[in-house]
Amino acid sequence: METRIIDGAALARRTRAALTERATALTARGRQPGLAAVQVGDDPASKVYVRTKMRVCAEVGIYSEHIELPAATTEAELLGRIRALNADPRIHGILVQLPLPKHIGSDRVLEAVAPEKDVDGFHPENVGRLAIGAPRFVPCTPAGIMEMLAATGIALDGRDAVIVGRSNIVGKPMAMLLLHQGATVTICHSRTRELGDHTRRADIVVAAVGRPQLLGADMVKPGAVVIDVGINRLPDGKLVGDVAFDAVLGKASHVTPVPGGVGPMTVTMLMANTVRAAELRDA
Ligand code: GUN
Repeated sequence: METRIIDGAALARRTRAALTERATALTARGRQPGLAAVQVGDDPASKVYVRTKMRVCAEVGIYSEHIELPAATTEAELLGRIRALNADPRIHGILVQLPLPKHIGSDRVLEAVAPEKDVDGFHPENVGRLAIGAPRFVPCTPAGIMEMLAATGIALDGRDAVIVGRSNIVGKPMAMLLLHQGATVTICHSRTRELGDHTRRADIVVAAVGRPQLLGADMVKPGAVVIDVGINRLPDGKLVGDVAFDAVLGKASHVTPVPGGVGPMTVTMLMANTVRAAELRDA
């Protein structure tokens, strides 16, 4: 079988072009969308991610603030910064880059973000809204994957979907979105026995565990759609996903590459949520 490679970078470019038009229209009315990214400490991966987000803001025409706080910042200080951003009329979206230093309670911080500015979709109110099928802001990685599936014309209704990974950021919201589209959803994780028995039954597999090339060809059904959320750096410096990409070529019907697959769409959905937050405020 010839495997089609889902080009997330190309879809991201098209989506960003449409978002640029919407941001420009808001700016023309004196309502430029604004995003604040709060980063605590100097985790090198977080720095790269936040810089990318800020660069794409500029590309789309979104005003952005990168708030870098020292690792020793107290939870009370961080909560104070978030309250100030909640009240700042230039800012329509607030994201707190995870992970936070261990002395800070992530749950309390995410709950402090005003739900109508929670463009990551991590506030319990937005998590609950997604769970009941009335989403406001959907977490960016799963939202981007749904856009990729839709743009590729992949049917979900009645199909078996297996998600490997149970995080609040990817696995759980991904399960909700696929469920709402009529898929039969299984969530596997580090305690799952015989992972391959599950993944081999799947029409759609989403790998989001952070284990390099965990999903080999022997774990994939012929003709399955394989979505790779992993970004792992091998000792030799090579960037690979959670899927053994070369091994599933010829077996899967579709696969997303790393890099150039899910990543560019994740950042793009953050821009989409921010533009929508500004539009909702403007309405
Ligand atoms: N850390 C890893 N992924 C994410 C994400 O999507 N948003 C935030 N804020 N932090 C993250």
